[in-house]
Parts: sequence; structure tokens; C-alpha cells
Amino acid sequence: MSELNNIALKIIGNGKGILAADESTNTMTKRLSDVNVPSTPENRLLFREILFSSTSMTDCIGGVILYDETIKQISSQKNKITELISETGSLPGIKVDTGAKILAGSPDEKITEGLDGLRERLKEYYKIGAKFTKWRGVYNISKDYPSKLSISSNAHALARYSAIVQECNMVPIVEPEVLMDGEHTAEDCYEKTSIVIEKCFEELILHKVDLKGIILKPNMILAGNKSKNKISNNEVAKLTLKCLKKCVPSEVPGIAFLSGGQSELEATENLDLINKYNDTNFIMSYSYGRALQQSALKFWSKNTKNVEGTQKIFNHRAKMNTLAAQGNWSKDLEI
Ligand code: 13P
Repeated sequence: MSELNNIALKIIGNGKGILAADESTNTMTKRLSDVNVPSTPENRLLFREILFSSTSMTDCIGGVILYDETIKQISSQKNKITELISETGSLPGIKVDTGAKILAGSPDEKITEGLDGLRERLKEYYKIGAKFTKWRGVYNISKDYPSKLSISSNAHALARYSAIVQECNMVPIVEPEVLMDGEHTAEDCYEKTSIVIEKCFEELILHKVDLKGIILKPNMILAGNKSKNKISNNEVAKLTLKCLKKCVPSEVPGIAFLSGGQSELEATENLDLINKYNDTNFIMSYSYGRALQQSALKFWSKNTKNVEGTQKIFNHRAKMNTLAAQGNWSKDLEI
């Protein structure tokens, strides 16, 4: 088994999932100001350190995605953040894209940047202790979008990123996110997501990326958040599986979904159903940001000294999602 495949399995094997704590400073500022906490480097670290020191890190969280600011910070116990995470048995990872910018030629869409100087940045992150990385391509969805230009340029960037990351001995998380915003049906989401994922694999193969050493991080197949035609969680799970079975080559070890604006419960329930119906060899796990942190952040914002209470809430969500990643979750465990 290759070293990269080993790392991927360590991150999402045995029901473990990923804590996406890689919000950019802008996004984290928005999350903190929503709960009336000033967004200082100290406060951003304070909350994250509470999560990284939780007991569920050992049992549930196989990897943590960090942001550039966090990976270079020092914990209150004077440890490197990568060491704090590694000591729990979890692996530190790093978001390496520099954000989604306006796509020239189709200004209503976005292209993710960050390839210039990437190899050098990766070497630095590897030295600090990162074992895996993340790059997110983002796609609008409507009658005309995503355009061919957006599908092909984002797939190209994801593939170039993945090839360089593997060259630097880390596992790339490949994240093509078809956004939830809009009035589209789940069928539309299924069709567009299929095209997006197929194009990503075409480019990954062209760029000679070892598919056994990546983790795919896709959206689930959902109706748009303004759609009048919502579908049941059972249908979400079945359509999501159908899409991934069709589009993802069998060498890929696993898939870790983003939560993308679903509520905590929805994200857990959908993941559980996906695993209950999973008739593939793919591991189906989670790489949640909001769906792992929302309740913990809300509680902490009102009780910043209550570390234990904050950790209890986070541990519960991590445990529920780890059960869901094995198809063993049920609603009565939430009460
Ligand atoms: P959400 O689960 O909040 O969508 O975040 C996951 C992520 O890493 C988005 O890039």
C-alpha cells in the first residue's frame, strides 16, 4: 500500500472524519461577529484550540484542516498547533488555495487561485507537520451555470494542485463544490455535479495523480436552498450514491462530504443514510466545517470560559457524525 493511501485511510478510515477548521480570516470574522465575538488572532485560536484539545479528536477526528494563520500559531501550552493535533492521534492538514476569484471570461463565476509558488509553500507546510492539504473549487448552479469554462478551468487547477501536493508527499483533498444556493432541483444538482466530478477525474488522470492517494470532498446531491421541490433525506442519499458510483473511479479510497450550509442534523442524517445504502467500496465520511462547529461556537460565544461545556457539544457532534460515517446513527441518540 502506498504511503499516501495509508495517510488517506488514517484520516477517514474506521468511521473517522475531518474537522474543517480552515476558515479564512474573513470567513472566521463573519462566523465570530455573527455570535458577537471580536475577531482577533487570539480569539480565533482560543476557540479552535478548545476543539483541538477535545477527547473526540482521538476517537472521531482523523484529520483537521487548518488555515495558514492557525498552522503557524502557538498554543496556550506553548506547543505548535500541528503537535497539539498530532498528539491526539489526528493528522494536521492545511488549506493551500488562496481563494476563489472572478473568472475572467465569465465574471459571474469563480476560479480558485493559488498555484503560483505552491510547491515552495507546500515544502514549508510539510516541515511544520502537515500531512494533507485542501483546495476548493466552487461552482454556481443555474440554467447556464456552471459554464464549460468554469468546469474545465477549475478541474485543471484542482489537478495541477493535486499533482504538486503528491510530489511533496501529502494527500490532496480534492474539493469541487457545487453550491447549494438557488432554485434548482435535486435532478439539476445531480446532472451538474456529475459533469463537474467527471471533468475533475479526467484532469486528475491527465496530470498523473495517484487516485489511491487522494480524498474527494464533494457536495451531496440536494435541491437548491430556494427550490420549491425539496426531496427527502432518503432520496438525497440515493441520488448522491448514484452520482458518485457513476463518476468516481474505483481506485479512490474515500469520499468526505462537505456540509455546505446544511444544518448539523441534516448533515448527520444524510451521511448516515448514505452509509446505510452504501453498496460501493468507497469510504463515505465527513469533512464538515459548519456542521461540526456551529452549536459549539454558539455556546462558547456566550460562555468563553466554559471549555468543558464547549467541548461536550463538539464531542457530541463529532461522535454523531462518526456513527453516521458507519451507518450506525439514529435520531434518538441526539436527545
Ligand atoms: P462546510 O462543511 O461548512 O461546508 O465547510 C467545509 C469546507 O471545508 C468548505 O470548503
